[in-house]
Amino acid sequence: MGNSGFLATLLLPTLLCVHLFGGSVNGLGVNWGTMATHKLPTETVVKMLKDNGIKKVKLFDADSNTMGALAGSDLEVMVAIPNDQLLAMNSYDRAKEWVKKNITLYNFKGGVNIKYVAVGNEPFLQTYNGSFVNTTFPALQNIQNALNDAGVGDTIKVTVPLNADVYNSPESNPVPSAGRFRTDISRPMSQIVDLLAKNGAPFTVNIYPFLSLYGNDEFPFNYAFFDGGNPIVDNKIQYTNVFDANFDTLVSALKAVGHGSMPIIIGEVGWPTDGDKNANMANAQRFYNGLLPRLAANTGTPLRPGYIEVYLFGLIDEDAKSIAPGNFERHWGIFRYDGQPKFPIDLSGQNQTKFLIGAKDVKYLKQQWCMFNPNAKNIGKLLVDNINYACTFSDCTALGFGSSCNGLDANGNASYAFNMYYQFKQCRGEPSIGSGTKSESNS
Ligand SMILES: *[C@@H]1O[C@H](CO)[C@@H](O)[C@H](O)[C@H]1NC(C)=O
Ligand SMILES: *[C@@H]1O[C@H](CO)[C@@H](O)[C@H](O)[C@H]1NC(C)=O
Ligand SMILES: *[C@@H]1O[C@H](CO)[C@@H](O)[C@H](O)[C@H]1NC(C)=O
Ligand SMILES: *[C@@H]1O[C@H](CO)[C@@H](O)[C@H](O)[C@H]1NC(C)=O
Ligand SMILES: *[C@@H]1O[C@H](CO)[C@@H](O)[C@H](O)[C@H]1NC(C)=O
Repeated sequence: MGNSGFLATLLLPTLLCVHLFGGSVNGLGVNWGTMATHKLPTETVVKMLKDNGIKKVKLFDADSNTMGALAGSDLEVMVAIPNDQLLAMNSYDRAKEWVKKNITLYNFKGGVNIKYVAVGNEPFLQTYNGSFVNTTFPALQNIQNALNDAGVGDTIKVTVPLNADVYNSPESNPVPSAGRFRTDISRPMSQIVDLLAKNGAPFTVNIYPFLSLYGNDEFPFNYAFFDGGNPIVDNKIQYTNVFDANFDTLVSALKAVGHGSMPIIIGEVGWPTDGDKNANMANAQRFYNGLLPRLAANTGTPLRPGYIEVYLFGLIDEDAKSIAPGNFERHWGIFRYDGQPKFPIDLSGQNQTKFLIGAKDVKYLKQQWCMFNPNAKNIGKLLVDNINYACTFSDCTALGFGSSCNGLDANGNASYAFNMYYQFKQCRGEPSIGSGTKSESNS
């Protein structure tokens, strides 16, 4: 309540900003992942962020090119320590070294506006089989202490972006108010949450309604979006979308460990546009058309009405991401791989049909591609093997069931696969099979 005067003064410039520049929802951030074969120059990406009124960016490392491009931009940055460095950060000397090289170095006027350090990325994901269960908390503690030692602990906070699978409610009572942290990680979760609380740092969670739907044909489709359907009732509260229900399950889990009012950041939320029957532009548009106006209106959730700090996932498609979770992994961008907008999205939350401002001065490779020779003979098993080979070392996620190029015939599949392989190899300067494609399949 004491804050309301402050909020009112903040609101006015924000509204003005929206009208004059078509900016973004107050405080909206995006995830900038870089697992792509044809990366845009970092300066180009920073310009895209600014052109679209985005003020915050979340990274997955502290790459010096990226940090260099962000210097002087005033964008608020969450830098990260990847999971494979967590063990190393269990040494306090290494943690101090990391902070010196990746934080202190950029912490000057006109440098990088670092706000958070993400220690690990979804380290307790169940598919990791507990690999990072014992190393995450000591790393977090060391990095926080190192930040304090460097004199920046007051302004730069640690956090651990966690997947929503770190909490759940029992099958016998699947309602948000019954939310608890997973029992196999209850000890590290308590340690982490206590440390965050002690330092005034936020809890960071990634919530994916798309994943609730993916691989679960029983899941009520409309419940993944924000425009109604299939309410569940919990203590007289009606939940009409899985995002709210999931978020409030976390609120309950935090409450159960004594931190019911800890600030929560949404580290990742979004909808992919290819690679699955539910991953397409129409669904992505429907999802964002529901999410963004709610963020702009500070709707919050039933247990936490008000502002939520949110980072969309993601900025640009990443064609080199692992597809272990599914083919959709390479298609989360609100921009295509080349920095051009895919579908209308109104980051200001006014729900207008408009496109983002694309990357400027993008340099494209020569417009040439491979085609399968339709007169090729004796193509049986060897062709299948070659297609598999080409797809393993490139990106054929658009060919699968429910994806955008699923309807291609056998020749079309071959052309697509060999062309993708050619494009991937070409960009790395390795010998390409481009011109060899026809002769290989002619054999
Ligand atoms: C700083 O971050 C980069 C990128 O994540 C990493 O490769 C490097 O090892 C870090 N530096 C230190 C001293 O740990
Ligand atoms: C986790 O365990 C499963 C089953 O034992 C195994 O298939 C998988 O490769 C393991 N994953 C990791 C990251 O160790
Ligand atoms: C983590 O620590 C526990 C308790 O000391 C131990 O049982 C477990 O094997 C450890 N896990 C890993 C992945 O090292
Ligand atoms: C946004 O507009 C679309 C139609 O373009 C509509 O279906 C949707 O309900 C609107 N969302 C909100 C929150 O008004
Ligand atoms: C093309 O490839 C996709 C993905 O591997 C496969 O599902 C489909 O059956 C193929 N089509 C033909 C005609 O071989």
